[in-house]
Amino acid sequence: MSRVALVTGGSRGIGAAISTALKDAGYHVAATYAGNDEAAAKFTESTGIKTYKWDVADYDASKAGIAKVEADLGPIEVVVANAGITRDAPFHKMTPDQWHEVINTNLTGVFNTIHPIWPGMRERKFGRVVVISSINGQKGQFAQVNYAATKAGDLGIVKSLAQEGARAGITANAICPGYIATDMVMAVPEKVRESIIAQIPAGRLGEPEDIARAVVFLAADDSSFINGSTITANGAQYLT
Ligand code: CAA
Repeated sequence: MSRVALVTGGSRGIGAAISTALKDAGYHVAATYAGNDEAAAKFTESTGIKTYKWDVADYDASKAGIAKVEADLGPIEVVVANAGITRDAPFHKMTPDQWHEVINTNLTGVFNTIHPIWPGMRERKFGRVVVISSINGQKGQFAQVNYAATKAGDLGIVKSLAQEGARAGITANAICPGYIATDMVMAVPEKVRESIIAQIPAGRLGEPEDIARAVVFLAADDSSFINGSTITANGAQYLT
């Protein structure tokens, strides 16, 4: 029987590639999105993957949305916490709003996504949790005190969940993408982006599929001993 996978922020960018790769690997996939109805409708039309709209920063909305997905598709056995935003600014210009928006979506959003699913995974003695962190959680980044804090926080989340879930057949792992050709990276000023690409030994931005491949690997039943790890996929830009 096909397992059910939930991908937050799963209709665009890296998330869309993850949703598609999981579907191609035989999962029943639900993809969430926050606001872009048009992109979500197009995504469903081209892939057949159902989309659900809620704000991951809102615990009650996440809980209700997850209940709806489970009523439609069955218990969620693979959860990919991918939804994330940037509000870049040098620290001396960063506003409390920019700090809170990023913390609420990228970090509290990971809690809100996994927490309602976790008890069912424990009961069924199977679960795969994958959190999409970032190279910038590993190395920090100019103008990203808020974002880097959340992405470093992701690593603490999976390392702790791994220890709690291990005996219940649940794994929790993180993937740290480097700079991937998505809207988020394309929004960086061109001059800055060029200087970033110059620091990537691969000589190019990554593709969303480079990350999706790693998710499918971690989600597999026979990846059960890979737990609490961080997979780095950054074209050798930063080596930990
Ligand atoms: N390293 C060092 N200096 C940098 C820099 C960097 N990465 N980025 C910008 N600067 C410098 C600029 O060259 C400029 O210097 P000068 O004043 O000497 O010309 C200065 O910082 C800019 O200062 P400003 O006060 O004018 O900055 P601003 O308020 O206009 O903000 C910015 C501009 C938001 C920092 C913009 O440059 C920017 O977006 N930088 C890129 C940040 C970045 O890399 N974000 C990653 C997004 S992708 C992502 O997050 C996905 C992922 O997981 C990898």
